[in-house]
Amino acid sequence: MAYGAATMNAQTSSLHLSIAPEREDDARAVDAMIERAFGPGRYTKVSERLREGNVQRRDLSFTAVAAGEVVGAVRLWPIMVGEARGLFLGPIAVEGGWRKHGIGGDLIDKAVTAGAAAGEAFVFLVGDRALFSPHGFEVVPRGTIRMPGPVDPARILWRALTPGGLDGVAGQAHVPEHG
Ligand SMILES: CC(C)(COP(=O)(O)OP(=O)(O)OC[C@H]1O[C@@H](n2cnc3c(N)ncnc32)[C@H](O)[C@@H]1OP(=O)(O)O)[C@@H](O)C(=O)NCCC(=O)NCCS
Repeated sequence: MAYGAATMNAQTSSLHLSIAPEREDDARAVDAMIERAFGPGRYTKVSERLREGNVQRRDLSFTAVAAGEVVGAVRLWPIMVGEARGLFLGPIAVEGGWRKHGIGGDLIDKAVTAGAAAGEAFVFLVGDRALFSPHGFEVVPRGTIRMPGPVDPARILWRALTPGGLDGVAGQAHVPEHG
């Protein structure tokens, strides 16, 4: 498996987009875009329990900007699974009208590459396999990661960021004490 640098795909390179780590100034526009993409129900999601009281890794979170507007974003968070330290990915969203051009895929690749470069061992998330499997994610064996609420096990996905990065990763997913 390759852990090297990601490049923009052929589709997104023609969109005059820039994808860069989330700046503090972008946070409100990103929040609003996520809100539009998911609707208000997102705050009841089990994944939100792993973001509450956590401190976002802004350096590993990426924002896609076109003509000064935020059109896509992915956020990453520090996480513990049992005793293993890794990353939790989400939310990911692309503005309606900008979808199906590969922006979501590029955001995933950027986050994965940056996480690997930062020396993190693994990343996991709750999401659609069809979206994430082309980017190296696989379904976590049932029962390996316990979530803080009911989640469809087929939607719990992970990938290593270093060789052997998934070894021994098992247990309750929880927010690290220091956030
Ligand atoms: C999911 C989302 C971020 C994808 O962004 P995108 O820029 O359209 O993604 P890409 O163009 O890189 O790839 C989309 C591909 O994933 C597939 N896919 C799988 N699950 C998908 C989903 N829930 N939504 C959109 N596409 C999905 C598409 O069929 C498409 O495959 P294709 O390229 O073979 O047609 C965007 O549709 C979105 O913001 N949706 C609403 C929020 C959401 O559901 N986010 C999390 C889902 S886990």
